[in-house]
Amino acid sequence: MSQPQKLKQLVVAEFSSPAVVEKYAKEATQELWASEEILIDEYFKSGSSILDLGCGTGRTTLPLFNKGYKIIGVDLTPRFVAIAKIIAAEQGKTINYQEGDATNLHFNEASFNNVLFSFNGWTMIPSETERLNALQEIWRVLMPGGHFIFTTHKRIWHGYFWLWFKQGIRIYILKPLGFKIDEIEFGDVFFKRDSSAPYLTKQFIHIPNVNRVKMQLEQIGFLVVLMKLRNEIVDRDKKLPSRDCMFYVCQKPFV
Ligand SMILES: C[S@@+](CC[C@H](N)C(=O)[O-])C[C@H]1O[C@@H](n2cnc3c(N)ncnc32)[C@H](O)[C@@H]1O
Repeated sequence: MSQPQKLKQLVVAEFSSPAVVEKYAKEATQELWASEEILIDEYFKSGSSILDLGCGTGRTTLPLFNKGYKIIGVDLTPRFVAIAKIIAAEQGKTINYQEGDATNLHFNEASFNNVLFSFNGWTMIPSETERLNALQEIWRVLMPGGHFIFTTHKRIWHGYFWLWFKQGIRIYILKPLGFKIDEIEFGDVFFKRDSSAPYLTKQFIHIPNVNRVKMQLEQIGFLVVLMKLRNEIVDRDKKLPSRDCMFYVCQKPFV
């Protein structure tokens, strides 16, 4: 099995562990982040269609369904999709949730007005090639003029110098010498959510250079309409427990 496939299995296994499922099930009934709501209100026309990729247990799907969007939630982790369906049913909502992989979508070309990949889900796709495949797929299923909103962490060196320094040694020196290194690319990080909780395995995430992400989006053909840190969009989100992240709003041009 290739290293990206192994890491993809790790991502699903970690999200399927009981403590993580419980955490995400609780978050599913919370509101949208204020930053998400501001950007969605501005760029996704009311009543239009949304593909909610990496929807998890439905944290964004449910409130957007309630706002009147025609929404389909798709996620790689079968356990999350099952929980999302239960939560929707408990609330008396008929929401279309499906298992699926962003790198190989089963929708026709130009099926959606908008695509959302919230809370850094795109960066949980191991390997740059696969992340580019996902961007290509998002481009394919978006209608011309449609918007794509997603987030990533932002790679910074201040305060993280030793992390990146040690990673450079592992990837650029030890790996070519034949040492077994789990990271595929510079920026790949394995983290444990909370050492006090019964989290089973480490989780994978890629922390990108945000300028490189912009370049990748432009290579695919997207217009990058906005790149802004969550904490710069709205003060209220500074209270969220997760670390700050970069929002990208992109548009598939009409021609
Ligand atoms: C950090 S969670 C966010 C879940 C949800 N959007 C939220 O905000 O609560 C990232 C999600 O991306 C999903 N994911 C990772 N890789 C994916 C892929 N290739 N295709 C679809 N979903 C994927 C994971 O299963 C997980 O549910």
